[in-house]
Amino acid sequence: MKKILITGGAGFIGSAFVRQTLRKHPDYQVINLDALTYAGNLETLADVEKNPNYRFIKGDIGAKDLVEQLFAEGLDYVVNFAAESHVDRSIAGPEIFARTNILGTQNLLEAARRYWPVREPHRPADGAESPAPRYLQVSTDEVYGTLGQTGYFTEETPLQPNSPYSASKAGADLLVRAYFQTFGLPLLTTRCSNNYGPYQFPEKLIPLMISNALADRPLPVYGDGQNVRDWLHVSDHCEAIDIVLHQGVPGEVYNIGGHNEKENIYIVKLILSELKKPEALIKYVKDRPGHDRRYAIDAGKMAKCFGWRPRYTFEQGIKETLQWYLENQEWVNSVKSGDYQKYYEKQYAGR
Ligand code: NAD
Ligand code: DAU
Repeated sequence: MKKILITGGAGFIGSAFVRQTLRKHPDYQVINLDALTYAGNLETLADVEKNPNYRFIKGDIGAKDLVEQLFAEGLDYVVNFAAESHVDRSIAGPEIFARTNILGTQNLLEAARRYWPVREPHRPADGAESPAPRYLQVSTDEVYGTLGQTGYFTEETPLQPNSPYSASKAGADLLVRAYFQTFGLPLLTTRCSNNYGPYQFPEKLIPLMISNALADRPLPVYGDGQNVRDWLHVSDHCEAIDIVLHQGVPGEVYNIGGHNEKENIYIVKLILSELKKPEALIKYVKDRPGHDRRYAIDAGKMAKCFGWRPRYTFEQGIKETLQWYLENQEWVNSVKSGDYQKYYEKQYAGR
């Protein structure tokens, strides 16, 4: 059996990837290493916890001994989702972002250096499977900074992060690049646009707006609401990661996106209309400092190398997502039971 370490597997995207891997690769043993921060929740994985191919370990990607122990077991694949992921929290407190996203990644890379044979990087032909071991860094389009009204982020776009979150993700990307160039490790990077779907923590735009609309609370729209994000269903992101993990060329970066640009205000109004709630609930609030205006991914490399394209249309994906939140209020209430109320007050009071 192959062994795959998935870090951050109790979060939004990581949990979808855990589920997908158990389904798609029944011959893999899945180890989920997650620190269970406010964003990690084991209820999210209740449906797989009894699967004999699944093991959960509570721990920090920055913990040296723990990570070394896992590599010593013999890992074929590592996919690093673990991160502090919310821009607003990085503005309120940047330090943990540097620690988890940069130093945590470096700790994983260092263990790979110690336990994985260093050799000349293997460069498979496009579409051919590359031998294990392999490490995939899950990164974000935010490392490229912001776009004007036209153009797209390509893999060659210079890194110009604008928030402590995106700067920490860019720092991790550069470490991955350096460990590939210097030590010849089999490392890959993906950079994806905004994800949506089930189990997203309700601090992020779509689940927060759904949650507030259902409770008839104001929907806080930053600035003029015309910032643009490129939305991709989480299952399309996970499919793309699985492809890059198995077929990508080490040292390469792959952009993943939906060609699905929407202004925030469009999304907010759509949610209100689907839930039959009045637009009077919209409240324009003070803008996010350093707020990136527009993200848009050119995912041409994923299409050219692997024939990958998103399966979901936004119309279908958002309807299913709304339905999921309506049917899973218990999950939402449970993840909001921790420090969420305090966070919400601090983030939105007087804004
Ligand atoms: P999330 O915040 O929902 O989940 C993060 C998970 O990481 C949580 O389970 C948390 O407990 C865990 N974690 C945090 N610190 C840890 C540590 N030190 N050690 C071990 N586990 C730790 O995040 P998400 O939205 O699922 O994002 C996952 C990854 O994908 C992140 O690396 C993020 O930068 C990237 N990404 C996210 C999006 C998006 O739209 N959400 C888009 C592109 C890329
Ligand atoms: O682009 C990929 C990134 O997408 C990921 O790397 C991040 O982990 C993920 O959080 C997301 O970052 P954003 O900052 O784009 O997502 P967020 O949901 O926080 O905000 C989306 C847009 O909505 C953004 O323009 C800010 C706006 N917004 C957000 C919140 C939470 C509001 O107007 N009001 C809000 O209350």
